[in-house]
Amino acid sequence: MDSILVRGGGELNGEIPIAGAKNACLTLMPATLLSDEPLTLTNAPRLSDIRTMTTLLESLGAEVSKLQDGQVIALSSHNIHNHVADYDIVRKMRASILVLGPMLAREGHAVVSLPGGCAIGARPVDLHLKALEAMGAELDLRDGYVHAKAPGGLKGGMVDFPLVSVGATENALMAATLAKGTTVIKNAAREPEIVDLARCLRKMGAQIEGEGTSTLTIQGVDKLHGATHPVVTDRIELGTYMLAPAITGGEVECLGGRMELVAAFAEKLDQAGIDVTETERGLKVRRRNGRVTAVNVTTEPFPGFPTDLQAQMMALLCTAQGSSVLEEKIFENRFMHAPELMRMGARIDVHGGHATVHGVERLRGAPVMATDLRASVSLILAGLAAEGETLVNRVYHLDRGYERVEEKLGAVGARIERVSGQ
Ligand code: UD1
Repeated sequence: MDSILVRGGGELNGEIPIAGAKNACLTLMPATLLSDEPLTLTNAPRLSDIRTMTTLLESLGAEVSKLQDGQVIALSSHNIHNHVADYDIVRKMRASILVLGPMLAREGHAVVSLPGGCAIGARPVDLHLKALEAMGAELDLRDGYVHAKAPGGLKGGMVDFPLVSVGATENALMAATLAKGTTVIKNAAREPEIVDLARCLRKMGAQIEGEGTSTLTIQGVDKLHGATHPVVTDRIELGTYMLAPAITGGEVECLGGRMELVAAFAEKLDQAGIDVTETERGLKVRRRNGRVTAVNVTTEPFPGFPTDLQAQMMALLCTAQGSSVLEEKIFENRFMHAPELMRMGARIDVHGGHATVHGVERLRGAPVMATDLRASVSLILAGLAAEGETLVNRVYHLDRGYERVEEKLGAVGARIERVSGQ
């Protein structure tokens, strides 16, 4: 298994291009199942999670081709010949559950394995299932699979989520586009990836109102058609690379970045002593001077501070002046990076859903273990600031969500390399 070797200490200066959003692409790709006409996605990221979704869609009969070095994905689902999303593929990635809504809506039946994914908590799919039941789906959970039927097709219904779920909102939204009648989704997620999905579905002929708010209203149509759609910028990759110069010093411009994608996060950076300015090409980030200041952070659904940037923010706060409290409100088990950061000299107390980070002057390089996708990159960020060498082991999680991380950071002056495993 590959590792990443980081030699810390230097400032970072230059530009980093930000890719299309993994999480948007992972919901846009299954939207192909809603139509027998082609769907083309541009600005797609080149990541192993995208390859996993490709394999899953192909196993169902979709044709998927990658053009322009993988940045354009052409999908066609004119011949869905298999309605079973197999455990062997689904277990690799939780977003696989997103084929359920579209397949059920268009084909009237689907069998999807219960998913796996990052080990960051229980992460059930009950909300996905309840939403589809509200549209008339008949569901049966057997042998680790969801067996779903909608004889006569899905019907518009009232979906009222007890808590905000990105994936369940996406599944419900996609399914509702082909349901008979009107569906109202209350307490819907407002993430930019949902807005992006709604825009793409509208290009395909769907009738949707309210994206970006907590109520979505969908008027079902008989058929969706083909479309071409650019994937929205990855706000998590953006936030991650914004933290690089914040941690090391220097100035980096994140190309393609937009403030509205990371407003709550940028506000915390400002409080910590990091300047973020909008430019014509993106967002420019520079640490004001000296050590950053401790700040408290609570993760929340969008537009709040994203849980997917919590680990990286913790890496920054490890060397802040003062103590910061990070509260994780989305996933119950998402501080696995804390003990690894402590191996590098960080002082962190984890108690339930809170972590208190007592800033130290300096981190020291150490061999560490990546436990999940965002944790892996937080260790790389910490390694950039640390004295000496940090070897981040088990980086396969990293490749799920960050394309060419060593190249992008190397281009702004980081001393970072991939060490191939046996
Ligand atoms: C998506 C993102 C992930 C991000 C998360 C929260 C993708 C592919 N992944 O994951 O990177 O960390 O949003 O911003 O877009 N829940 C239930 N029942 C359900 C569904 C969710 O209880 O049926 C709970 C989860 O356990 C969690 C919370 O709801 O505590 C939010 O999860 P959700 O928004 O659904 O996350 P994902 O869509 O899986």
